[in-house]
Amino acid sequence: MRGTLVVCPDLESLSREAANRFAAAVTNRSHPQAPFRVALAGGSTPRQLYALLASEEFRNRIPWRQLHFFWGDERLVPKDHPQSNYRMAVETLLKHVPVPGENIHPAPTQASLDGSALAYEQTIRAHFNQRRGVPSFDLILLGLGADGHTASLFPFAPALEEKQRLVVTHNPPTVPLARVTFTFPLLNKAQRVFFLVAGEEKAAALHQVVEGGERLPAQRVAPRKGELVWLVDRAAASQLQQVRVEP
Ligand code: 6PG
Repeated sequence: MRGTLVVCPDLESLSREAANRFAAAVTNRSHPQAPFRVALAGGSTPRQLYALLASEEFRNRIPWRQLHFFWGDERLVPKDHPQSNYRMAVETLLKHVPVPGENIHPAPTQASLDGSALAYEQTIRAHFNQRRGVPSFDLILLGLGADGHTASLFPFAPALEEKQRLVVTHNPPTVPLARVTFTFPLLNKAQRVFFLVAGEEKAAALHQVVEGGERLPAQRVAPRKGELVWLVDRAAASQLQQVRVEP
């Protein structure tokens, strides 16, 4: 496994570790006035991190007006849908901090399947003013599914082999809701990637990712020049053989 593995006692301490690293990444930049572009993860694990970032303890440590928010993947549902990753981030974080509305860049979800992916790719390219090549996000947050997926890059999906596009769709019978997702070229151009993994149900997948075994989608996240950090709790780390987890 590439990168740094940090085992935290529980989800609360994992979220705190992630919040401190998030704040440090923003405030220790070489160009403090430059925009800081973040791609948020969906699902449930990041909720505590987002709420912590919105809390008194962290809210004043972060220059919110310089941050731009994107999503590493999104379900193709209306923005007020209970399954929307955008809605989750707004409710836990974005409506509680002074991020200008124009700095929030949700995936278009009302177009056709591929129309949404193409539109989101154009949004990203326009924001970075980069019509060709692969833009570099300052920070991408990711989760890990029990099957080893990350973002909406699922095992055996054609999206895993995408080499040109920045964003593609995923609409398999195996998961509810069609999605758009960042591709590996975009994920692997990031300055830093933080995985947040918590819970016993992730232990088998984390063991596979960290200690070899079949290549799961999440193992293919390996930023060429960026920092890769796996923030996991003890329950998710419970099947790691080569890592000594302090009791
Ligand atoms: C999504 C996420 C997905 C998620 C993992 C883990 O849209 O569902 O992007 O990749 O990060 O499935 O989800 P949990 O944090 O809910 O376990």
